[in-house]
Amino acid sequence: MEIKVLPDLSQAVAKALYERLKRGGNFGFPTGRTMDPIYSHLVELHQAAPLDPGRVHAFMVDEYVGLSENDPRSYHSYLSERVFRPLGITQVHSVMKPDYDQLIASLGGMDLQMLGLGLNGHIGFNEPGSRKFSQTRLVQIAESTRQANASLFNSLAEVPTQAMSIGVGTILAAKEVWVIASGASKNKIVKQLRTSTETAKLPASFLKGHRKSVLWLDSASASH
Ligand code: GLP
Repeated sequence: MEIKVLPDLSQAVAKALYERLKRGGNFGFPTGRTMDPIYSHLVELHQAAPLDPGRVHAFMVDEYVGLSENDPRSYHSYLSERVFRPLGITQVHSVMKPDYDQLIASLGGMDLQMLGLGLNGHIGFNEPGSRKFSQTRLVQIAESTRQANASLFNSLAEVPTQAMSIGVGTILAAKEVWVIASGASKNKIVKQLRTSTETAKLPASFLKGHRKSVLWLDSASASH
């Protein structure tokens, strides 16, 4: 796993992503606070020199179960608002679609799978205990993850308990994988990830076996 530490992480990831999107292909878009400034910079780059959205297939990473697609708290809404609409991407594939992994494969496989990093080492909603070759499936959201995401809801009770998530196996099948972590809250899990061997206790560790995976960090998340 290659590690990049960049003080201007959001701009650097946005620029690198923009260059990839120019070439077109299949991209897995994550949600989360980490991605907010990255997507803002990406939209700025697109406004300055527009990308051809027709060359891009966008795939979701995960989605809450129990929220409608149009619910402002759904990951579909998050991505539509910050990425798909601003960039004009219409070839959007919801993780709720049946046979999602087969769909990705039938379109030529994932060229670039981007991911955030959960405080407990989750990727997508592959919580600790997820299997290395897991596929897209219904999952239970860990209590600590529900708490970490509760600020986006009115109360903890409103945070869904289940989600659809691409699997660890789905991620490992991608041609390239980027994990992005920013801020001091992530420095502990980043340190654990760096020192860990592959283990289901820390799902992101399975990416160490991937031929082309990059861990993108800022100074704060790399500070340990
Ligand atoms: C959430 C999502 C992940 C996301 C991660 C990090 O629970 N399921 O897809 O990547 O946690 O989120 P954040 O960037 O807000 O820390």
